[in-house]
Amino acid sequence: MIVSSTSDYRKAAQRRLPRFLFDYVDGGANAEDTLRANVADLRAVNLRQRVLKNVSDLSLATEWFGQHSELPVILAPVGLSGMLARRGEVQLAHAAAKRGVPYTVSTLSICSLEEVASQSPRPLWFQLYVLKDRGFMQSMLERAQCAGVEVLVFTVDLPVHGSRYRDAHSGLSGPFARQRRILQALTKPGWAFDVGIRGRPHELGNISKYLGQATGLQDYIGWLGRNIDPSIAWTDLEWIRDFWKGPLILKGILDPEDARYAVRFGADGLVVSNHGGRQLDGALSTAKALPPIADAVGNELEIFVDSGVRSGLDVVRMLALGAKGVLLGRAAAYALAAAGQAGVDNMLEIFAKEMRVAMTLTGVSSVDQIDRRILA
Ligand code: FNR
Repeated sequence: MIVSSTSDYRKAAQRRLPRFLFDYVDGGANAEDTLRANVADLRAVNLRQRVLKNVSDLSLATEWFGQHSELPVILAPVGLSGMLARRGEVQLAHAAAKRGVPYTVSTLSICSLEEVASQSPRPLWFQLYVLKDRGFMQSMLERAQCAGVEVLVFTVDLPVHGSRYRDAHSGLSGPFARQRRILQALTKPGWAFDVGIRGRPHELGNISKYLGQATGLQDYIGWLGRNIDPSIAWTDLEWIRDFWKGPLILKGILDPEDARYAVRFGADGLVVSNHGGRQLDGALSTAKALPPIADAVGNELEIFVDSGVRSGLDVVRMLALGAKGVLLGRAAAYALAAAGQAGVDNMLEIFAKEMRVAMTLTGVSSVDQIDRRILA
């Protein structure tokens, strides 16, 4: 099979994964309107073609918080990545390190932060959720420090789990979920052998380590439901800012007013994100939400964005709309599921190539030259 785009990897992931896992990655909240709008609104952003600008000396490198990155992209936190490919988080970390971009380990990863960090991939970021068990949060922050995590990504848009109907239909949750998952796995022998058998243990590595007991996939939705915290408010978070001395990014900001709160809170960056359309269906796409947020606080902290990015061209569009860095969620997840680290290596190469083409044809030779002037 010839793989030349995210959509090829999506199809390959669908062929390889049991249905409950493909739908877990691919799906969004409710009617999935925001999921679709993320992609459609970004694709509708027109770029200004320029010619004869001599862009032979082109660089895709950038810097955040004094850290160099070879591309203006970061691999986003994706829970349960270790179910998509054998020890998937470790493979993602290797791919990111090889291409010189950061990888963000999720709180809800299969491999623990320590398992990933022991492979010494750099740069390593860690994503933390707001959870009821503040002891867990405190201990995770300490573990992140010990593991040499450079940047803390604090996800704030999950005070409640989004209504993801596909998960109930496919067997990630709902009646007879376990039996349905086993039946689906039997129809995907490649995945069943490589991940289902050789990829064990399938625990939530970070949480098992904290609880001192195994936590399986069946515990995932239950644990999340019991532990996400709708009572959280800005003032409850101050201890985290006090504790974490390194760069801290708030992920899940969609409104300029919240962006101003993020500045007051002392965040070093924020991610304009609707969680890939997995939380509030009907929320603005990030292509629409980003420009007013960049206008409001772009001079005060580093602006990142995600949701709907499927190509290097999309990365250039997001930079033109005001972002300084772009997180890749599903694009990396599909590639990982389809072909492991090699898939993610290739996906990053495809993105880099597409960025180069887009930059050449819009007449810019470096990432910091990309701004609204290249929008048509
Ligand atoms: C996510 N996302 C996510 N975010 C986070 O902060 N912690 C997490 O554990 C997860 N888990 C997760 C699982 C899966 C399967 C997906 C698709 C997404 C959200 C993710 O970091 C990112 O915000 C979105 O994926 C961006 O949208 P796109 O690029 O997938 O459209």
